[in-house]
Amino acid sequence: MKIAVIGLGFVGLVTATVLAGKGNSVTCIDTDERKIEKLKNGDLYIYEPGLDDIFEKNRGRMIFTSDYSLLKGSEIAFICVPTPTVNGKINLSYVRDSVFSVNSADRKATVAIKSTVVPGTASWLSFQIRKDISSNPEFLREGNAIEDTLCPERIVIGGKNAEEMEKISKVWEFTGSPVLKTTNENAELIKYASNAFLATKISFINEIANLCEIIPGADVATVAQGMGMDHRIGKDFLRAGIGFGGSCFPKDTMALVAYAEEKGIDMRIVKSTIEVNKARVKHAIRMIEEEVGDLRGKSICILGLSFKDNTNDLRESKSLELINELKAKGAKIRAYDPVIKELDGVEIVKRLEECDGMDCVVVASEWKEFETSPLYERAKKVIDLKKVVNLRVHPNVRAIGVYRGKD
Ligand code: UGA
Repeated sequence: MKIAVIGLGFVGLVTATVLAGKGNSVTCIDTDERKIEKLKNGDLYIYEPGLDDIFEKNRGRMIFTSDYSLLKGSEIAFICVPTPTVNGKINLSYVRDSVFSVNSADRKATVAIKSTVVPGTASWLSFQIRKDISSNPEFLREGNAIEDTLCPERIVIGGKNAEEMEKISKVWEFTGSPVLKTTNENAELIKYASNAFLATKISFINEIANLCEIIPGADVATVAQGMGMDHRIGKDFLRAGIGFGGSCFPKDTMALVAYAEEKGIDMRIVKSTIEVNKARVKHAIRMIEEEVGDLRGKSICILGLSFKDNTNDLRESKSLELINELKAKGAKIRAYDPVIKELDGVEIVKRLEECDGMDCVVVASEWKEFETSPLYERAKKVIDLKKVVNLRVHPNVRAIGVYRGKD
């Protein structure tokens, strides 16, 4: 098929590459000329395991351009542009502009919105351009994006036009995944409800972690394990830590609350989820202060900068929030990250040994390589804020959600 992908951020680039890998010709459009130049030169500006390999093999079937007219003749245009929140409210202008541009370039192309948008957006845009638009929300996770796109747990397609919905379904037939066809509004809400629910699981376990810290013998990881053995609860997304970050959960939970508020609905659970999440870094600072005392002049090594493992994405990274708070309190920071080697305002070391002898090592991201390290044995104090360190190997490490009796 000839397919167009609009917006070459994380979702767009992964979608375009995987679809090219399945033999489709993909016109990749972004208004940012710098991105287009980079991609033409084979430079993928995101780190995602496995992506460069598929990209290299299939670049020949991909066109990179900022010129919408090149999408002419495409059967489907997937809209993957950002939907940031401004003052807590979703900004739909990129989605609107790209839908209008696709419509001007080729009115026959089926338009499928992958961007996360509030319920009613596809219907509103359908009315604007006098043509049915469909929804095809994306559920991939950064760091796991290739597998999530090749074998998603479900494909959700919303819309009014059965023929167009069938066409979208055909594109994803190779996944063999179950397909839910529904209204645009349901599809749009499924995406928000899913992200808000997952974020709620995280805030919930983080509150249980707070409780574990004051109960002798308690460890939140084992509590989560026992909870997860009940399939009604499920074991995933119950890892306690310094809270959720990234480009999705923080923005989507806020947008959902604001959207509901506008309609007169008070989303109390989602609001609390956001509140609990906001308090996580302060909680982490308290833990560090308990270990090292006054932070002025103290040297702290931070392991992990991105918002989670297997990505170089720094958006809404709790690790960066932590670094800023520590700096404001007078601490001297050095950081190590498996993939981020340069960052304005942060001294990044290339080898972990360069953090030897510092006052405290703080694990702030869940990379597998942080499970064990000789650094933990040599450090004065070690704090694990992501429940990633193997405490059987390193019993000297203080972890979030584990009882540590007061001295
Ligand atoms: C999330 C969803 O998981 C995807 O399904 C969705 O498609 C995506 O948002 C989106 O809306 O585009 P992502 O933001 O890539 O994916 O990352 P997650 O793996 O969900 O992690 C989000 C944050 O939660 C990270 O900061 C992570 O460290 C934290 N987290 C996750 C926890 O603190 N505990 C957990 O148990 C799981």
